Amino acid sequence: MIIAIDGPLGVGKSSVAKEVAKRLGFTYIDTGAMYRAFALKTIDRGIDKEDIKSIINLLKNTDIKLSYKNGELQVYLDGIEITDKIRDEKVSQRASQVASIKEVREYMVSLQRRFGEEYKNIVIEGRDTGTVIFPNAELKIFLTAPVEVRIQRRYKQLLEKGFNVDYEKFVKDFMEREFRDNTRKVNPLRPAEDSVIVDTGNMSFEEVVNRILSLAKEVM
Ligand code: DC
Repeated sequence: MIIAIDGPLGVGKSSVAKEVAKRLGFTYIDTGAMYRAFALKTIDRGIDKEDIKSIINLLKNTDIKLSYKNGELQVYLDGIEITDKIRDEKVSQRASQVASIKEVREYMVSLQRRFGEEYKNIVIEGRDTGTVIFPNAELKIFLTAPVEVRIQRRYKQLLEKGFNVDYEKFVKDFMEREFRDNTRKVNPLRPAEDSVIVDTGNMSFEEVVNRILSLAKEVM
């Protein structure tokens, strides 16, 4: 069974998807982490964000793996564990940039489908999971919340993770990413026609998780 969870930046997709997977005993797949891993590689190699040709070329020798240690997702890039490194703002920005390149998306989508076959029961989270990666997913959820709520959620999360964040720059970067993700030519963010839209603006984390679990029980 596949549960696909999409939604805009900062809506809480990752935390919700992770918790739903845990409660159902499913495998959690974070597709954004894969774009982030590749983004980190382009930064470490000193590739300019405008140098699309080199970015595409770099895909050839890239190995991205997700694994689980004590139930926690770990991300490997070319055999090296990079789980924590991919969460900083520089990587977030670059991930959004590389994710707008068609070839990069094609590469990630084929990898994501392979993970789906390997793990069978999954909760897969990220843009385009319900529209492109698994259009036949048994349950598709699209989480929404007003942009102000999403900015606050993401900001709080970064502070909790111990990142030193300049609020004004953070908001500017957030809006830039939001704009790019929503307007890019290849698979811009949009809900699948058959997805259940859950407006989380006035819901607690627990309420969102429970709502998805009850929707999942209906299709199980
Ligand atoms: O969800 P996230 O912030 O970890 O994702 C990082 C970036 O990757 C984000 O700007 C959007 C992009 N992304 C995407 O285009 N498609 C996905 N399936 C997942 C993420």
